[in-house]
Amino acid sequence: MDIAGTSEWGTVSALAETFDDLGLRRLFADDAGRVERLSFSVGDLLVDLSKHRVTEEVLVALVALAQRAGLDRRVQSMMQGERINSTEDRAVLHTALRAPAGTVIEVDGDLGGRVDVVAAVHSMRKRMAVFCERVRDGDWVGDTGAPIETVVNIGIGGSDLGPSMAYEALAAYRDERLRCRFVSNVDSSDLVTALSDLDPATTLFVVASKTFTTSETLANAVSARRWLTDALGDDAVARHFVAVSTNRAAVTEFGIDAANMFEMWDWVGGRYSLDSAIGLSLMAAVGPERFEEMLSGMRIIDEHFAAEPLSGNVPVLAGLIAVWYRTFCGLPTRAVLPYSQALRRFTTYLQQLDMESNGKRVRLDGEPVDYQTGPIVWGEPGTNGQHSFHQLLHQGTTVVPCDFIVFANPDSGDSDEATGAEATRHHELLAANCLAQAEALAFGRTAEEVAVSGIDPGLAPHRTFPGNRPSTTIMAPRLTPSVLGQLIAFYEHQTLTQGVVWGINPFDQWGVELGKSLAAAIAPELGAPEPPTLAHDPSTNALITRYRELTGRSGGPGA
Ligand code: F6P
Repeated sequence: MDIAGTSEWGTVSALAETFDDLGLRRLFADDAGRVERLSFSVGDLLVDLSKHRVTEEVLVALVALAQRAGLDRRVQSMMQGERINSTEDRAVLHTALRAPAGTVIEVDGDLGGRVDVVAAVHSMRKRMAVFCERVRDGDWVGDTGAPIETVVNIGIGGSDLGPSMAYEALAAYRDERLRCRFVSNVDSSDLVTALSDLDPATTLFVVASKTFTTSETLANAVSARRWLTDALGDDAVARHFVAVSTNRAAVTEFGIDAANMFEMWDWVGGRYSLDSAIGLSLMAAVGPERFEEMLSGMRIIDEHFAAEPLSGNVPVLAGLIAVWYRTFCGLPTRAVLPYSQALRRFTTYLQQLDMESNGKRVRLDGEPVDYQTGPIVWGEPGTNGQHSFHQLLHQGTTVVPCDFIVFANPDSGDSDEATGAEATRHHELLAANCLAQAEALAFGRTAEEVAVSGIDPGLAPHRTFPGNRPSTTIMAPRLTPSVLGQLIAFYEHQTLTQGVVWGINPFDQWGVELGKSLAAAIAPELGAPEPPTLAHDPSTNALITRYRELTGRSGGPGA
C-alpha cells in the first residue's frame, strides 16, 4: 500500500501546513489541561509529551494514520511470531525473550510444524544463569585453576552496543569482583587496550556474534585466542572462550566447544538482542536476578504496547510524533539527551536501534518512498552537551526535537550511600539543568522579556531565544534494571511504530552489506605484495595506490 496516497496521510499533511503557527506558548496558554492530558504514566516512566508542537487534532490524525497503516495488526503479528521480516523471511520475536514462562509463542519449525519458543528461551536463560553464577562465585575457573576476574565481550553492532550500554547503565548493580570489557572495533588498539592490564589466567572471552561470520569480531577473536594460547597453550581455549551465536558449526570450527555455546535464534534481530544470550556478559556482571528485573521492565512496556488502544499507547504516540516531525514537518534529526552519566552509551545504542531499523528508502513491496523516513538520531548525556551543541539547539536555524531522560534519585544499586547529601546536591543540580533545558527550548525568551531584564539593547537580538523547540521529558524514580528495561522497550516499540507508518521493514539491514563486501575485496589489495588489479573507481584506486606507497608496497598495476 502507498500510505502517502491515503486520505489519512492527506489529513496529516494538511495539518502540517500550519506547523509554523503551532506555538508552544499559545498551546499552553489556551489549554489548562494540556499537561495532564499529554503526560502518561507507564510502568515507572512518566512521559511528558506536552511540550510537543501538536494539537489534539494532530494527534487524532496521526493515530488514524497509524490505524490505516495497520499498526495494530502488525504488532499482533510480530508478537505472535509471524514472519513479518519479509525480506529475510523471519519472525521478529524479541518480545518472546521476555515473555513469562508458560506463555506459548510458536514459530515455524525447521522440520515443519509449529514450535514454541518461550520454553527454549527460558531453558537457555537457565543455562546462562547457571554459567554466570559459576563465574561470579569463582566456581568456573580458568586453565590454571584461578577464578575469572575479567569477562571480555568480543562483538560488534547489536552484539556489543546493548551489553556495553547496559553494563555502564547498571554500574551500581555490578559485582565488584568481576569486571567486563567490550571489544568491538577491528582497529587493533581496541583489543590491545582492553587486554593491556589483564592476566590471561583470569580472563574469560565471550565471542558474541549472531552469525559468527562478522569479520571484525572474528579478527578480534582470533587475536584474543592467540594472546591466550601464547600464555597458556592451546588447551586453555576450552576454559577461557565461550560463544553466543546461532551458528554452531562456525563456533565449533573456531575451536569453542559446542557445550560452551549459548544459543540465539534467527528471530532475534541483532539490535534487539540484549535480552537474549547476547546479554551474557551483562548477566555475569549484574547477576541473573538483576537481568531478570531488566526483562520484567521490558515486559511492562510490551504489555502496554500490545494492549493499550493506539490513542493512549505511549510508545505509539511518541513514535507518531517522531513521524510528524520527520515526514510532515521536515525536521531531519532527533536528539536523545539522558541526564545520567550511567546512560552515557544509551544514545549510541539507540542510533543502531533506530537508524539501522528505519534508515530505509524502499517500502516492503520494493517501491521507493516519496517521503522522508528515519531521522538522524544523536546526542550526549547532559549536562556535558549543554556546553557544546546546546547552543545550536537553542538559537540555531534548525529545530531539533529532543528527548530528555531524567531520574528523581541518583543511581545507588543495593546501597543507599549514593543518596547522601553530596550526591543529592549533585543530583538536584543535574535534574534542574534537565528541566531548565526543556523549559528554555520550549518557551525561549522574547525580545520584550530581554528588554525588561535590563540587557543592553544592542545585544537584544543575540540574547533572545526563539523557543518553540519541542521535547519529550521522561522521568523515572531511579535508574534500576527494571527502569532500564522499560526505557529500552519504549524505544524499540517507537521504532516499530515509525517503520510501520512508513511502510518499510524495520528489521532488515541490507544497507550494511555493500560496504562489507567491498572491504573484503579491498583488504587483500592493500596488503598483497604484488600490484593489485585496481578495478575500482578512480578515487578508490588512487587511495589504494597511495596507501600501498605509504606502507612501502608497490603502487598500481605495472608499477
Ligand atoms: O552491522 C550489521 C550487523 O548485522 C548488525 O545488524 C549486527 O548487530 C552486527 O552486524 C553484528 O552481527 P553479528 O552478531 O552477526 O556478528
